[in-house]
Amino acid sequence: NKVVLAYSGGLDTSVIVKWLQETYDCEVVTFTADIGQGEEVEPARTKAQALGVKEIYIEDLREEFVRDYVYPMFRANTIYEGEYLLGTSIARPLIAKRLIEIANETGADAISHGATGKGNDQVRFELGAYALKPGVQVIAPWREWDLNSREKLMDYCEKHDIPVDFSKSKKKSPYSMDANLLHISYEGGILEDPWAEAEEDMWRWSVSPEAAPETPTYIELTFEKGDVVAIDGEPLKPHEVLSKLNKLGGDNGIGRLDIVENRYVGMKSRGCYETPGGTIMLRAHRAIESLTLDREAAHLKDEMMPKYAEVIYNGYWWSPERKMLQAAIDETQGNVNGVVRMKLYKGSATVVGRKSEESLFDASIATFEDDAGAYDQKDAEGFIKLNALRLRIAAAKGRNAN
Ligand code: ARG
Ligand code: SIN
Repeated sequence: NKVVLAYSGGLDTSVIVKWLQETYDCEVVTFTADIGQGEEVEPARTKAQALGVKEIYIEDLREEFVRDYVYPMFRANTIYEGEYLLGTSIARPLIAKRLIEIANETGADAISHGATGKGNDQVRFELGAYALKPGVQVIAPWREWDLNSREKLMDYCEKHDIPVDFSKSKKKSPYSMDANLLHISYEGGILEDPWAEAEEDMWRWSVSPEAAPETPTYIELTFEKGDVVAIDGEPLKPHEVLSKLNKLGGDNGIGRLDIVENRYVGMKSRGCYETPGGTIMLRAHRAIESLTLDREAAHLKDEMMPKYAEVIYNGYWWSPERKMLQAAIDETQGNVNGVVRMKLYKGSATVVGRKSEESLFDASIATFEDDAGAYDQKDAEGFIKLNALRLRIAAAKGRNAN
């Protein structure tokens, strides 16, 4: 039997390779993806080889990740619990999909991952896997073994000749981190005290707003059907857009977040996130929608958003309800075209201008000056009176006061 493992090349998942081979006496296939985590993925090949792995998959999924997952999510202005831009959540369905595809290609009947039994990621990987291959076997070592400390892991390495330099592959960090083109996350360490402020040197992608340049940076984002397709007039692919916005945002101290969130498994957890490009994109997308979307469609979309965010956070990307919501959201984006001008300055991304061929903004109607008959103010009288009818009936019965 054979198992496909989501392999980062780091210490934990290297231990998992050995542990799977020993515990299940199985052939391990490793899968390592570049989704913009900012670390070389090629070293995973030599490491996997050293562990006796014969089938090694290493893939650049950056374009697919942003085009097919991040962009569709941003069309809904998605945020979880009012704050979190779902940087980790949105990467999991793609990993799950590739794990299953590779299982099918290599004739494996099982998949495995390095997520703990306490978190969201195990749920996302496994719901995705079951949704795409109902009979798949899932092996989650963290829920089975007793190597639940750094020390025990290191001991295991020594006993099983896992090269020590595997532990140095990830720069020693006191945090549990996860990174991709959308964000980098930090959990654990001193962050386990929700009152303790993160140390400045924890943040890797952004300067602090205090240290950001004194002069603002202006950029223009071009939207087509709700997606950013160009920056300052230069056409870019989705993953190029995001990496450019990450740089621009990070340089201006944009996109830091420090929150306590509700995990699907039931616990509260404190996390810090840097989402510079996503933060800019979300603002800009709302701005272009403000010009181009019908009011009722926009409001309905906003009502659906928290549900859609929860669906993604909880790991139900490959579900009928996610597809249903996506279809509704995508349906609204046909006219979401135009350009948004943003000012990036010391931690804030402010919209300063927007324009669109599809704009529903009509200056001749909205003007405070003479509108030359475009809007008859007398119409408002009846509009208000009929809307007030039920209030007046209730008032006549003495109901409305407190
Ligand atoms: N709490 C965030 C989420 O559930 C981030 C999880 C980070 N995952 C990790 N393996 N470090 O989406
Ligand atoms: C983990 O438990 O593996 C990371 C945190 C999470 O999945 O929520």
